[in-house]
Amino acid sequence: MGRGNQHPFEPFRIKMVEHISLTTREERQEAIEKAGFNLFNLPADKVMIDMLTDSGTGAMSDEQWASLMRGDESYAGSRSSQRLKESVNRIFGFKHYLPTHQGRAAEGILATCLLKKGDLVPSNTHFDTTAANILARGGTPTNLVVEASADPNDLSPFKGNIDIDRFHQFLEEYHERVPFCMVTVTNNAGGGQPVSLANIESIHNICQEYNKPLFIDACRYAENAWFIKQREPEYEDWTVESIAHRMFSLADGATFSAKKDAIVNIGGLLLMNDDKLYENAKNELIMREGFPSYGGLAGRDIDAMATGLIEGIDEGYLSYRASQVKWLHDELKDRGVPVLSPPGGHAVYIDAGAILPHVPASEFPAQSLSIEMYLEGGVRSVEIGSVMMSFISPDTGELVTPPLELIRLAIPRRTYTESHLCHVVDTAVAIVERAELIGGMQIIEAPEFLRHFSARFDWLNRTQTFC
Ligand SMILES: Cc1ncc(COP(=O)(O)O)c(C=O)c1O
Repeated sequence: MGRGNQHPFEPFRIKMVEHISLTTREERQEAIEKAGFNLFNLPADKVMIDMLTDSGTGAMSDEQWASLMRGDESYAGSRSSQRLKESVNRIFGFKHYLPTHQGRAAEGILATCLLKKGDLVPSNTHFDTTAANILARGGTPTNLVVEASADPNDLSPFKGNIDIDRFHQFLEEYHERVPFCMVTVTNNAGGGQPVSLANIESIHNICQEYNKPLFIDACRYAENAWFIKQREPEYEDWTVESIAHRMFSLADGATFSAKKDAIVNIGGLLLMNDDKLYENAKNELIMREGFPSYGGLAGRDIDAMATGLIEGIDEGYLSYRASQVKWLHDELKDRGVPVLSPPGGHAVYIDAGAILPHVPASEFPAQSLSIEMYLEGGVRSVEIGSVMMSFISPDTGELVTPPLELIRLAIPRRTYTESHLCHVVDTAVAIVERAELIGGMQIIEAPEFLRHFSARFDWLNRTQTFC
């Protein structure tokens, strides 16, 4: 039982439902073995609670479904692209933008236009697709997040911040090799932790000093702005929208996956002020995504994004969203499951390293814990540890590993209720109770980049876990 932890009141009613197939442990065991012990390879109907990602998995509102119907499929100059323009200009305020089919396409175009072999790109923490886009062009993604980020029990309010001293030193030493800087809000790979406006201001000032453009990975900018309003006293009377304006006014551009804070199933944006970059990026877009009025999207998707962008900054919704994440965090913690604190904006991160101290990082404790969560309760999470986050640095040739072995329980927006999340808590508690039986895993086969999506694994010691 919890300690009177109140699940927040959902500011919506459920108008349409989606069936969940209930599976037995035996069915799940068969399914995961067939999937090469990779949760990405599972058929979705073998999953009961899907917390693999909050990306593109939220429930659209009736207004967004109405937008889909209004979608104008004209190749150029559609009404939908006009509506998107109004929403984008209202929120971001950059001089130019291009729609893309999702965030990684925006990252790919940005990297193509600005990066060359041997370059370095600093950030708080690059997420997997951003890192891969930089690595694929011979650059090195460099993570300079504050030290507190690596301590799951450190309650600092802005654990997504860049370590300003290290950032300054980094630019002092390597500025000739840095084409642009980034900051990810919220810091997904580091627990969905927010970045303060004070920190973004300092990053901006240092970028100005070295004449480097700053790009915000803005996937969860609205959740980040909500935390700024809650935790940075100077901004408590500001609206989320005005905080977002302030954040973006300190940058030269942004990449954005609309699948998060614009609550759509597909879509992204590349935003920038620089005219020349815009021309180059537009040419890239036309070659690989589509005409600038629609990017890689249908007119209806553009229209739903235009509506979702505005819904994503609704403060009643953001309050519920943050409270739901906190509810899950508090329930787990209260029942003895080690989690990363304080709760972030879109997910709860279980500290697999703390639950399985007998499994070294080289045996992927978070991967094996995520498989256990599936076997026990049909809950699909994602590993954010040495499978997803480690890579060989092109710069030094050394293996770069993450500070923590985590599994992320991402909460899709407006999708799951309290009883669903109670099931997730019960599942995690059952696993913690028999943690000593859980062993490590090995990789059987994996591609060079983004290996977590398609690698195949097996237990190092099968008999212990398949009980
Ligand atoms: C911080 C961050 N950046 C970039 C991306 C990539 O976005 P997309 O999945 O739309 O390509 C994600 C997606 O999860 C993300 O969380």
